[in-house]
Amino acid sequence: MPVLQSPALGPLPLGLLLLFLLRGCGASRPSFLLILADDLGIGDLGCYGNRTLRTLNIDRLAEEGVMLTQHLAAAPLCTPSRAAFLTGRHAFRSGMAGSGGYRALQWNAGSGGLPQNETTFARILRQQGYATGLVGKWHQGVSCATRHDHCHHPLSHGFDHFYGMPFTLLSDCHPNGPPELAAATRVQLQSCTRLLALGTLSLLAARLCGLLPVPWKSLLGAACLSLLLHLCWSCSSGFVRRWNCILMRNHEVTEQPMDLGHSTRLLLREARAFIQRHRHGPFLLLVSLLHVHVPLPTAPAFLGRSLHGLYGDHVEEMDWFVGKLLDGLEKNGLKNTTLTYFTSDHGGHLEARDGSSQLGGWNGIYRGQTGTGGWEGGIRVPGLFRWPGVLPAGRVIREPTSLMDVFPTVVELAGGQVPRDRVIDGRSLLPLLRGEEEHSGHEFLFHYCGTELHAARWHHRDSGQVWKVHYTTPRFHPPGAGACYGSGVCPCSGDGVTHHRPPLLFELSSDPAEARLLSPDSEPLFHAVVARVGEAVAEHRKTLSPVPQQLSTSRVLWRPWLQPCCGTFPFCGCQEDSDSTPQKPGL
Ligand SMILES: *[C@@H]1O[C@H](CO)[C@@H](O)[C@H](O)[C@H]1NC(C)=O
Ligand SMILES: *[C@@H]1O[C@H](CO)[C@@H](O)[C@H](O)[C@H]1NC(C)=O
Ligand SMILES: *[C@@H]1O[C@H](CO)[C@@H](O)[C@H](O)[C@H]1NC(C)=O
Repeated sequence: MPVLQSPALGPLPLGLLLLFLLRGCGASRPSFLLILADDLGIGDLGCYGNRTLRTLNIDRLAEEGVMLTQHLAAAPLCTPSRAAFLTGRHAFRSGMAGSGGYRALQWNAGSGGLPQNETTFARILRQQGYATGLVGKWHQGVSCATRHDHCHHPLSHGFDHFYGMPFTLLSDCHPNGPPELAAATRVQLQSCTRLLALGTLSLLAARLCGLLPVPWKSLLGAACLSLLLHLCWSCSSGFVRRWNCILMRNHEVTEQPMDLGHSTRLLLREARAFIQRHRHGPFLLLVSLLHVHVPLPTAPAFLGRSLHGLYGDHVEEMDWFVGKLLDGLEKNGLKNTTLTYFTSDHGGHLEARDGSSQLGGWNGIYRGQTGTGGWEGGIRVPGLFRWPGVLPAGRVIREPTSLMDVFPTVVELAGGQVPRDRVIDGRSLLPLLRGEEEHSGHEFLFHYCGTELHAARWHHRDSGQVWKVHYTTPRFHPPGAGACYGSGVCPCSGDGVTHHRPPLLFELSSDPAEARLLSPDSEPLFHAVVARVGEAVAEHRKTLSPVPQQLSTSRVLWRPWLQPCCGTFPFCGCQEDSDSTPQKPGL
């Protein structure tokens, strides 16, 4: 299989030399265990104030490390947030953000994805001599032009080992799950069929009445096509599951469709085996959890254990998973030499519900959720960093920081260089984490919903105030709900949003819940703040430049010739044997 990889180990740069020198003074390059949860709300964790969900392992990371309380995702949905996390750049810079149409990749067999010329932290670390692994969810595309080119695949973006879902978990992945993606596709297919059938009938009528000389051949063709579409529609349940819910090891599909009953176990085993294999380090392991995305596949041992239904059970299973990873580090004597990080790609999905039971996360006091780019609830996520002996234990930092900061932080620690030929939006967290600096590198942060700037944040360092200016907000329904019930996620643009002139202003250091709207009458600084933030936005806009759109309809659509498949297309299907993986399970 052709492997599109960046040239392995480039010339060892100066940074590495410097590190060898530094090593003599007690500093050395850590390994990295980065854990990224999916759709987890900041209010779901004990260390962030949840008193009833038990997340003791994750809480332990906070006790033994640094906890960030204003850690912000660059986007409120998976595909753009992860693109920004991996590259240290806003997703619109790589074309991985969309607003009006698609906002995330929809198929493994679309042609959009993270472009080749974007540089992930994994690629830089690999050049620095790290073993780089990804276990879990990718959701950054697979191929460009042919089934096997794998131009967007993790192995083409600096990971030398991949095991997991090239796509994302969806409720369609459960054999009896309510369709999530399938529903939309089926509705489209059904409307097409109906239109075509109606058209054929009208033409037939016109022909019979002698109004239009339509050839019988065309009529027959149209009728056959309607019938074919109808057949497709009726067999399309299960379609999404087969094409999107798959597991791959490196370039090979190992399970199609995947069996949710053992995926947690397989992923954990793979992650622990990676740690064990690379214990002589240095390594970078990104564990991109399938937890806590619907359909919440949960082992029987965890069912009914929490006080919060299936969702709570599933969060507790995730915490167990994290505990097993930490345990893997400790067993290999790697606890002190590994920087461990835990976060979530964006806020919890309040609208995920099944009747009266809640299937999505809790964002604590913050308004908004998955999909809302401006409100805190969509973007404020957990941020925990542990590196015993180097980072202080139990410190809480309230400064604004971004998930994009992980990129320069990790690169710097590995002795690499961030790319200088492009805008990098992240700032190294090291001075802040080590307590050498009081403030983060972000005086301003820009909060996007797709390609639309919805809000901007100004940390006024002298006064400590954190101003948040909202230019556009989604219309919640019901109003005041903090969510858009009945429509998946809130929109970024169009009729579902309100543009504010003057913008809405909040002061987050005294009002983190964005509950007290400030006005020129109530806030003497109103105009000055709005004007200063406006200037910063204008400066920021100068850094934007057009790039090819990866989420355009034409790139997102399913293409049979790009579909990853085990067996011969279209007869794809294979099952992984839970017990015959070559690595030592150690579970
Ligand atoms: C803890 O998390 C659960 C599940 O998301 C949520 O229902 C509950 O409100 C949270 N409790 C607190 C105190 O935040
Ligand atoms: C790991 O770091 C902790 C905290 O500094 C220290 O107490 C402990 O002795 C270290 N363990 C090892 C094996 O170096
Ligand atoms: C990657 O290529 C696209 C298309 O040629 C270009 O617009 C973009 O600026 C490039 N990105 C980088 C980081 O060089």
